[in-house]
Amino acid sequence: MSATPRFPHPWDDLPWFGILADAVVRTTGLDLRAYKESAVVRRVRARAKALGTADAEDYARRVAGDPAEASRFARSLSVAVSGFFRDPAVFEALGGLLPKLAARREGPRGLSLWSVGCSKGQEAYSLAATMLHARPAPPPFRVLGTDRDEQALARAREGEYEHRDVEGLPADLLARVLVRAGAGRWRVRPEVRGRVEFRTADLLDPASYPGRLDLISCRNVLIYLRRPVQIWVLEHMASTLVPGGILVLGTSETLLGLRPELFAPWDARLRIYRKRG
Ligand SMILES: C[S@@+](CC[C@H](N)C(=O)[O-])C[C@H]1O[C@@H](n2cnc3c(N)ncnc32)[C@H](O)[C@@H]1O
Repeated sequence: MSATPRFPHPWDDLPWFGILADAVVRTTGLDLRAYKESAVVRRVRARAKALGTADAEDYARRVAGDPAEASRFARSLSVAVSGFFRDPAVFEALGGLLPKLAARREGPRGLSLWSVGCSKGQEAYSLAATMLHARPAPPPFRVLGTDRDEQALARAREGEYEHRDVEGLPADLLARVLVRAGAGRWRVRPEVRGRVEFRTADLLDPASYPGRLDLISCRNVLIYLRRPVQIWVLEHMASTLVPGGILVLGTSETLLGLRPELFAPWDARLRIYRKRG
């Protein structure tokens, strides 16, 4: 974590916040100073109430002495909700865009795609399935899915899903990515599974970012972070993309505050951007 700054925070002088932030980073590696104040305070209130602790400082001291509670708190700061082809219009647009991206690449190298905060893998698998169905067929490619949540990644690697994970997914999209694996169970198609690799990594650790990427899908993750941290993360991401590489954000995320020379909109409504240069 050497390249990660200690993000200053407006609450750094509040004793409970210092105790909590130090305990969480010591036990789990997560720097909660990077996360939105509203999310932190909401989780503290909820956990303090559930445990019957007197106040925020009492709860922070509990976390300092209880690694399981520290882990639970760190995991609660973001939700692991995801879905196959979440926001289908984004994947439809990418299906048309990826072959163009491939045509512009230098030399014969394959394409590298990164799903950041990939949760249980649905986004990474949806990207791989989109590539496999793109026409004209793109060159060889790999998709890397990363998350800091080990439990979610274990599910992602397993590549098995329940009926509720695919509810509402149109049949044609479902068939692109999954096959039946028994009653109410679905398994990622082998040709899709074979394109995707998963790795534990913290978005707040740029030293862990892969290099020379053609596409970064960072959707519904930045939303948990404070704005200065979002900008810091996006600057680092820009440096890992090849010129002309694609950045996809979640539908409620923006590049607000980022240097405008880094990205140009490809489809601003869908939050798809192209690295300038
Ligand atoms: C709402 S899910 C988004 C899943 C997927 N990108 C999508 O849009 O469907 C947010 C994910 O971000 C992950 N996350 C939150 N903070 C992170 C961090 N600092 N580093 C890596 N992953 C993080 C969470 O573990 C969670 O799996």
